[in-house]
Amino acid sequence: MLVLGLESSCDETGLALYDTERGLLAHALHSQIAMHREYGGVVPELASRDHIRRALPLLEQVLDQSNRALADVDAIAFTQGPGLAGALLVGASIANGLALALRKPVIGIHHLEGHLLSPLLVDAPPAFPFVALLVSGGHTQLMRVTDVGQYETLGETLDDAAGEAFDKTAKLLGLGYPGGPEVSRLAEFGTPGAVVLPRPMLHSGDLDFSFSGLKTAVLTAVRKLGANVCEQDKADIARGFVDAAVDVLAAKAIAALKQTRLKRLVVAGGVGANRQLREALNAAAKRRGFAVHYPDLALCTDNGAMIALAGALRLARWPEQAQHAYAFTVKPR
Ligand code: KG4
Ligand code: ZN
Repeated sequence: MLVLGLESSCDETGLALYDTERGLLAHALHSQIAMHREYGGVVPELASRDHIRRALPLLEQVLDQSNRALADVDAIAFTQGPGLAGALLVGASIANGLALALRKPVIGIHHLEGHLLSPLLVDAPPAFPFVALLVSGGHTQLMRVTDVGQYETLGETLDDAAGEAFDKTAKLLGLGYPGGPEVSRLAEFGTPGAVVLPRPMLHSGDLDFSFSGLKTAVLTAVRKLGANVCEQDKADIARGFVDAAVDVLAAKAIAALKQTRLKRLVVAGGVGANRQLREALNAAAKRRGFAVHYPDLALCTDNGAMIALAGALRLARWPEQAQHAYAFTVKPR
């Protein structure tokens, strides 16, 4: 089965072709980061319009790359939510229009399920069951993943998401958007221990997270330096923030493995691209004897490949989940 995947929930237009026998055949992505940068964040209306401009050329690109014709597509998967309503509607409209024209099944995919399953898009994918640490711009969750469609939330953030904390810290430090990679880079120049920030809920005894206090601690540290803040100070704060965030994420992921007695951890979502987090988890895995799996760096952030995969896995198991192309809807929340 050849599945076309379409992701348009936020600021990335992603198209991909996934073959249930051969794996990922092609994926193409257009990031709107440069367009939104001057506004310091995603402007929803601009995002929707850009998805319209990009989606079909990207579709042609993945067809070309994989040497396939549109008529070869057996099913279409699109991101149904959560995300920006207008942006989701662009993807949903295109996916359902194509499905109607091609007379092929179409399925709406939960964006987070896409992230959750993205580590399976490698040559040697982890077997079920596993613990998933889902860390994106909108979500921070620990899940027990027993099989496709069998997800149990073990813990989640009570306020900000990890990626959001990275982005807000970047803003406070005067760095660009999106902040995660920039904070991570700057932190490399920071002196360990120069700025020590709180590790919220580290000892809460559950698997929940909280990042809003950490963001406030960054704000306080920045204010304390006032106008005298120099580049080294900023790097020290970035380092303090990354160390605190990574400590909490790693500790809770390890606690989730203990609680579930599982030996496999899968990390997904944009913050899963973070170098410091990967280093901490790799070291812990070695020390404690568990396996840790990540998607390819290019598939950590939003992409069409994870949506195509989720659609393929769902339709293979539950063909009845295919939806009616004339009555589609999106679920921004
Ligand atoms: O999964 P994603 O692309 O979109 C959502 O579904 O939210 O995640 C985007 C988030 C942003 O907050 C971004 O700053 C963060 O992931 N991010 C990173 C890194 N790369 C992306 N955070 C820390 N380090 C990174 N290298
Ligand atoms: Zn995402």
